[in-house]
Amino acid sequence: MHFSSFIIATAAILPTALAQLSGKVGPLTSHATKTAKKTCNVLNYGAKADKTTDIGPALLSAFAACKAGGTVVVPAGDYAMKTWVTFEGGKTWALQLDGIIYRTGTGAGNMLFVRNANDFEMFSSTGKGAVQGNGFEDHKNGKRDGARLLRIEKTNNFSVHDIILVDAPMFHFVMSTVTNGEAYNMAIRGGDWGGLDGVDVWGTNIWIHDITVTNKDECVTVKSPSQNILIENIHCNSSGGCAIGSLGADTAISSVTYRNIYTWKSNQMMMIKSFGGSGYVEDMRFENFIGHSNAWNLDIDQYWASMKELAGDGVKLSNLTFSNWKGTVANGAQRGPVKVVCADKAPCTDINIEDLAMWTETGSKNTYQCRSGYGKGFCLKSGTGGAYAATTSTQTTAPTGYSAPSMKEDLKTAFGTASSIPIPTMQASFYPGVAPVSKLAGQ
Ligand SMILES: *[C@@H]1O[C@H](CO)[C@@H](O)[C@H](O)[C@H]1NC(C)=O
Ligand SMILES: *[C@@H]1O[C@H](CO)[C@@H](O)[C@H](O)[C@H]1NC(C)=O
Ligand SMILES: *[C@@H]1O[C@H](CO)[C@@H](O)[C@H](O)[C@H]1NC(C)=O
Repeated sequence: MHFSSFIIATAAILPTALAQLSGKVGPLTSHATKTAKKTCNVLNYGAKADKTTDIGPALLSAFAACKAGGTVVVPAGDYAMKTWVTFEGGKTWALQLDGIIYRTGTGAGNMLFVRNANDFEMFSSTGKGAVQGNGFEDHKNGKRDGARLLRIEKTNNFSVHDIILVDAPMFHFVMSTVTNGEAYNMAIRGGDWGGLDGVDVWGTNIWIHDITVTNKDECVTVKSPSQNILIENIHCNSSGGCAIGSLGADTAISSVTYRNIYTWKSNQMMMIKSFGGSGYVEDMRFENFIGHSNAWNLDIDQYWASMKELAGDGVKLSNLTFSNWKGTVANGAQRGPVKVVCADKAPCTDINIEDLAMWTETGSKNTYQCRSGYGKGFCLKSGTGGAYAATTSTQTTAPTGYSAPSMKEDLKTAFGTASSIPIPTMQASFYPGVAPVSKLAGQ
């Protein structure tokens, strides 16, 4: 979507959004204009909707014909993909995926890899276009280093929308070193195992919204370097949860806002994870979070045990505001609603936790844990200063106003890793009571 229509559609939230993004996002040319200029239908380049013929070579030929301006179309139908495709250096082009691509090849790498593109759009006109990664075929044998489904790299002025990604052997969707991008109206559904990331992004001026992720690792995660990123209306449907990180040397992340984030049965609602390293994470907002049945909730961990300790005093976190967090936590005594564990040699400053009310689903006790963190709220120390040891405070009565709605789309039983995962239909909303920013395709 272009920024002009965004202004009309969401005037009420404009001041924050404008402050958040640094300019317009999305393709410069509409897909209708590209299609009118030239249409490259894969069926004319050797593809067959027979679920057997490899669509890889046809995609490459269609792309070669349309990469200087036009739309590559994969019409409705079932296609097999045996060889992966790198779409290198396209300009003013679109990829219209209305069919379903089933992975049949066994290679690692990226099934669909868009690199060095400008003015690019990938979309489904029906909202039914999908990639079925059949990751369970690997996962049931303990293998988790196979193909990733979709990667957009070093690409400017682009969007990806109304696409469904299912059961990646490894990651589902990565945007790396991207600028002026938008990703929205997507359903991502993977196996119930770590390492099967939903959305990973690093870049500048990116808007990610109205996405649901089911898996057991990253929901929508920002990595370094990144600035001016807005992430909203996200449904983490039995996932790992959203995160920043993991962070390493020379981390540079600023001006990122997450809002309207609904998290169900995940590892955490939001985690900032590192162990050693250097650089900064600053000027971040995390507002309107609803959680239920999650292990961790607000979780800053600069001694994250799941990564190897890196050289450096630690990444400096400053000016982080968490506001309007509601709901329930799986076990508030074991893993409380708030954990802010900062690096002793790089204490966090200006951490503000406002209006966070969450209560435990097990027992009748919440714990709040802080270490070397300064700011306002719960166990944080005020002002600035040096390292301090972990302190824990306990609450034994439910805070007022903690209750929050659930979503009917919450995944009650995980898909596991041993059998085929069905392709979902797009859900109507990704956060309780909030309609998608842009109309869903085909609805
Ligand atoms: C992306 O679009 C902007 C205009 O919105 C333009 O200034 C910029 O050059 C484009 N990026 C590239 C790499 O062409
Ligand atoms: C803190 O971050 C917010 C963005 O979340 C920004 O608007 C504000 O200017 C920052 N404050 C300071 C003191 O830098
Ligand atoms: C979340 O899980 C539920 C239960 O399986 C499912 O009905 C719903 O479609 C899931 N959401 C998506 C979009 O995958």
